Amino acid sequence: MSDNLTLPAQQGPSDATPSSTEPLLEVEGLTKHFPIYGGFPIKRKVGAVQAVDGVSLSVGVAESVGLVGESGCGKSTTGRLITRLLEPTAGKITYAGQDITHASRRQLAPVRSEIQMIFQDPYSSLNPRQTVGSIIKSPMEVNGIEPAGGREKKVRELLELVGLNPEHYNRFPHEFSGGQRQRIGVARALALEPKLIVADEPVSALDVSIQAQVVNLLQQVQKELGIAFLFIAHDLAVVRHFSQRVAVMYLGKVVEVGDRDSIYNRPRHPYTHALLSAVPEIELDGGSPEGRERIRLSGDVPSPISPPSGCRFRTRCWKAQDKCATEEPPLVQLSGNRAGHLTACHFPEEPTTEARDEDVVLDPALKALEGDAD
Ligand SMILES: Nc1ncnc2c1ncn2[C@@H]1O[C@H](COP(=O)(O)OP(=O)(O)OP(=O)(O)O)[C@@H](O)[C@H]1O
Ligand code: SF4
Ligand SMILES: [Mg+2]
Repeated sequence: MSDNLTLPAQQGPSDATPSSTEPLLEVEGLTKHFPIYGGFPIKRKVGAVQAVDGVSLSVGVAESVGLVGESGCGKSTTGRLITRLLEPTAGKITYAGQDITHASRRQLAPVRSEIQMIFQDPYSSLNPRQTVGSIIKSPMEVNGIEPAGGREKKVRELLELVGLNPEHYNRFPHEFSGGQRQRIGVARALALEPKLIVADEPVSALDVSIQAQVVNLLQQVQKELGIAFLFIAHDLAVVRHFSQRVAVMYLGKVVEVGDRDSIYNRPRHPYTHALLSAVPEIELDGGSPEGRERIRLSGDVPSPISPPSGCRFRTRCWKAQDKCATEEPPLVQLSGNRAGHLTACHFPEEPTTEARDEDVVLDPALKALEGDAD
């Protein structure tokens, strides 16, 4: 394992290069149903939360893929299945050609260090009683890795890499701001020189003014170290600047996936239209927020315990017809779309359709953001 963190990535993509085609992670039909138990005195299974239901996606070597959708649609569960923090109900996870779907701890050991996760909440994901040095060092200790020059030297290099003062090695998490704590989380994830990072809403707990800085750091890490990312986010704004490809999830399923430009410029699924129109831009790289038109989505997100028949989006879709209730739309490439741009809809929007000019409130988190933007 190389000790040099400032090496330019051998396979890292530049702004202009298309995403790598060599797959690092492949997920097919990934499913997680959480059983619900009821009854007295003998508890039995009375139903299941269909949190993730047949998700297929891939992440190439050094590629960044965004996974986007409203609260409760199954993004974190997908991330936890991929990092094997949860056991899948069905489906297949292949990492670097190896089937890791049901791999035991021992079988997973060789790839464990290559797949890391960054969590949403930088407050609860760091042990308050450990110094920053020991937090970042612990993955190396657990995995018995002794970098050239020693672990402490490596931790100082990591602190510097993520924009923190290496002299703060002996400080505790509470001595840092939210943005700095997330940088510590990033340094910890980098300690084992991973090939894939699943970042679960890594900036949504941070002040809007800090979000852009942390996204820029992650982007730098992705490009300079050639690390692949699955970047989970509520809204499309953050992902737009970060991801080469984007997958949109709704109620446990991927409803649209494609390269970034295709998804943002030619979205075909009504839900992607709704998400795009609902998102206030956050400022990145000095860019200015753009005004956006709004779509009204009626009704609440249905329960994943009993999702609607056919197309799960039909209870909120302005284009729904009878067929949408009886036939589940397959995720396919529609005519006129670029290769790899797949959409699950019987009556997709034309590629030229503009976002509709109406009010939208997708969920409380976005509502709060909208309030800020006014
Ligand atoms: N351990 C669990 N047991 C039962 N249900 C669960 C469990 N974990 C998640 N769920 C349910 O699965 C669904 C998907 O949850 P998940 O956390 O994956 O969504 P999410 O897209 O990450 O949402 P958010 O944006 O709020 O983080 C939700 O309905 C949630 O309540
Ligand atoms: S399949 Fe029907 S309900 Fe689902 S998104 Fe398309 S038009 Fe709307
Ligand atoms: Mg989540």
